[in-house]
Amino acid sequence: MIRVIVGKDYDEMSKKAAEVFAKAMKSAKVLGLATGGTPEGMYKELAAMNQKGEISFQEMKSVNLDEYIGLPEGHKESYRYFMNDKLFDHVDIDKEKTHVPHAKDKNDDAACVEYDQLIDSLGGVDLQVLGVGVNGHIAFNEPDNELNYNTSIIKLTDSTIDANARFFDKREDVPTYAISMGVGKIMEAKEILLLANGKKKAEAIRQLLKGDKITTACPVTLLKLHPNVTVVIDEELEGAL
Ligand code: F6R
Repeated sequence: MIRVIVGKDYDEMSKKAAEVFAKAMKSAKVLGLATGGTPEGMYKELAAMNQKGEISFQEMKSVNLDEYIGLPEGHKESYRYFMNDKLFDHVDIDKEKTHVPHAKDKNDDAACVEYDQLIDSLGGVDLQVLGVGVNGHIAFNEPDNELNYNTSIIKLTDSTIDANARFFDKREDVPTYAISMGVGKIMEAKEILLLANGKKKAEAIRQLLKGDKITTACPVTLLKLHPNVTVVIDEELEGAL
């Protein structure tokens, strides 16, 4: 059974997601984090809760889902920059204990193996935050005939490059490869918190919540097989389901 929580708008959705996150933090040691527009509001709420002393990240370690390949270090659209800017710089986490995957080029398979070893050495992910692509991708696991279990290097689809072009000056600047946790590693997390808002995500969320199929053509449907998933959405998305 997937739990669904609806917030009236993006702000309320972000608050409700932060409450689920804060509750899970009571027993979590390893946080799995996502980037993208969707969780930004939740990270802001968590930073405010941390500043008020309601939650602490001092004992936390984190692993991120993915990272572009080929952006120079410190690039404003890198996911490491995003995490520092949106969360880590505003909370009491030890940045040395935060991990974002990094591959030096599209053939850097060793980086993938090392990232999975790192996750295993931390004892696995307790709470995994996810967003979802318009095409149903989770992390950068794009719709395909088969999906990777482990961390791997992914060629981004045109649809994902189009969706992410809004963050770059021009579409040609969007990297074409990324390193991404695989769906197996995501499914190994003890608890999953998926956030989605707006009509454009309705088809993917409909397939997860209302469809009967589990299909690699819509990777988010794999979450039907996970025993502990909470989906937080806004009313606009709920109305479009
Ligand atoms: C980001 C990630 C992606 C995003 C997805 C939705 O770390 O793994 O799967 O969650 O592309 O992105 P937004 O939230 O920008 O719509």
